Amino acid sequence: MLALEHRACSFFLQCRSSARCSYPRSYPINRTVQRRAFADAVESPLAKDVERRKPYYVTSPIFYVNSAPHVGHLYTLVLTDILKRWAQLCGDEKATLLTGTDEHGMKIQKAAQKANTDVKLFCDYHAEQFKTLCNAANISYDRFIRTTDADHRAAVEHVWNELNHAGYIYEANHEGWYCVSDETFYPETQVHRILDPSTGDTKIVSIETGKDVEWTSETNYHFKLSAFRDSLLEYYGRDPTAIIPKQRMAFVMKEIESGLTDLSISRPSSRLSWGIRVPGDGSQTIYVWLDALINYLTMTGYPSKSTKDQDWIWPPNCQVIGKDIIRFHTIYWPAFLMALGLPVTRKFLTHAHWTMNNEKMSKSAGNGVNPFLAMDRYGVDTIRFYMAYNGGIVDDAMYENSRVAETYKHVLRDGLGNLLQRVFKSKQFNVRESVRIVAGDEDFSELLTQEKLDESDQDLQTLHENIKTFGRQLTAVRARTEKAMNEPNPRTTAHHIVELIRNTNKYFHNSALWRRIDATNPKELRLAHYGVYLTTESIRIIAILLQPFMPEKMKAALDTMEVAESKRTFEHAQLRADFTYGCLPPEPEPDKKKRKSGDQLFPVLLSDH
Ligand code: ME8
Ligand code: MG
Repeated sequence: MLALEHRACSFFLQCRSSARCSYPRSYPINRTVQRRAFADAVESPLAKDVERRKPYYVTSPIFYVNSAPHVGHLYTLVLTDILKRWAQLCGDEKATLLTGTDEHGMKIQKAAQKANTDVKLFCDYHAEQFKTLCNAANISYDRFIRTTDADHRAAVEHVWNELNHAGYIYEANHEGWYCVSDETFYPETQVHRILDPSTGDTKIVSIETGKDVEWTSETNYHFKLSAFRDSLLEYYGRDPTAIIPKQRMAFVMKEIESGLTDLSISRPSSRLSWGIRVPGDGSQTIYVWLDALINYLTMTGYPSKSTKDQDWIWPPNCQVIGKDIIRFHTIYWPAFLMALGLPVTRKFLTHAHWTMNNEKMSKSAGNGVNPFLAMDRYGVDTIRFYMAYNGGIVDDAMYENSRVAETYKHVLRDGLGNLLQRVFKSKQFNVRESVRIVAGDEDFSELLTQEKLDESDQDLQTLHENIKTFGRQLTAVRARTEKAMNEPNPRTTAHHIVELIRNTNKYFHNSALWRRIDATNPKELRLAHYGVYLTTESIRIIAILLQPFMPEKMKAALDTMEVAESKRTFEHAQLRADFTYGCLPPEPEPDKKKRKSGDQLFPVLLSDH
């Protein structure tokens, strides 16, 4: 603790003192609050949460309301929702998810002008579309924040005053290339001149995003970002996994190491009127990114609630963002938080992009796939699963309808749906009976570890081997998914689960249990019941683990298996954690051919024909 105190002190003295050299402060800094804040950020996050009982807090970016949402936005929302639901699966009932819309700034002001609409009405209209998307996709948000909300404005003004009083804001002339589309200034080295194919003229664009930039020269306020270089390096140095994946962590470290220039954080109100005015200086409007990032704090009740409150949910356990906005989130944002003496976000999950014809899907390019149509066509849970399973964390992914259909058919319908149908809805198996038989058998675990079966029959020996191999695969999945979700990486988690679906099908097929379940040889019969039990356990565990990905479908699956509602948690996602489930075989049907595909969890899709 002493060492920690020492580190915390030196950390704060270091970043404060560099600010003090050049910019006199008019406000005494509360060192105790700062020390506590930093200690909070570096101590073991989990231990801290248990002690404080802090709920898991996860956020998505807040989206610009310049046009309708596309599946790229849905992707981030789905990942965020999976993280929240996973926390709930692990017993954190108060896990909290924040999403919303980013409504101020030049980009929105111009878009509304172009649409010849009152800017607030323009925002209302598009914000509603994002909210409708969240509801349609079953995103379990706790608040849908809009930066035009009154409490957000108050939080932004408070933050400005804090930064100002602490000596981190100064006025200076600013010259540079401003990109309205990216809402950011670019230095000379990050823009270049290109030939515009549509007009034949040359124009200057951002090298990174290809978006138009315009030369700007104005007096505005600056934030002393350069003072935070060492503190940021120290912070990330302590937790090299704070930014997922590691490739982006390395990129951010390099950016910080190469030096940070101070950040322009306001624009003259004569140019930008749509935003929050600088407190005490109505001639300036606060930079949209400073405004927007603060939304994550607004949600928590800040500034009424703060570090002194035991029930404060700050900091976010994870902030999910696309790779397009990492600089704002992993450099500017932590620096703002450090300047405020607040704990920094624990993890940033940064993901890659969905592309169409090798181009980033985007609102401005107009190549976005309509998420409402996609969900109508394939179902909400299919799209949620497809996005998490096929979407890119490290590498971009191409969005293709054929791949959605393929994933549905091979993984969900022929993989998981087929298993459920063949075991739980088959007249050949009495799942309830098999589960009860194994429940009463003390020697079950022995069977899984026993090297060789005391049996001369080769066929039974092979069956025993199959059972053992599959038992190992099944037991491993819990730890593997837990590890992946701790990173966190929902994509890897989905891949582990799909591997188990494939292995379960293979095992079920190779063991030919339907031939053995009526065996007269008691040894074979015992093995057959074990064999069936392992299959039902696998389906039960898979369905529990997939709940955060496909809440509705997995609810239906667990209902079919008659798994009690109280036994659907991560605790129960292991072998022999529940002996109370299992339906009786269905009544014989008078006409065999009349199997209704509508009864199935993943029926044949109309679009398959
Ligand atoms: O940047 N593939 O808002 P935005 C995957 N308002 N994800 C994509 C995507 C794609 N093709 N296109 C967009 C902003 N996204 C700011 C954020 S936060 C304080 C302010 C997702 O409407 C991805 O999460 O441009 C990306 O970071 C975000 O939408 C950008 O949304
Ligand atoms: Mg964008």
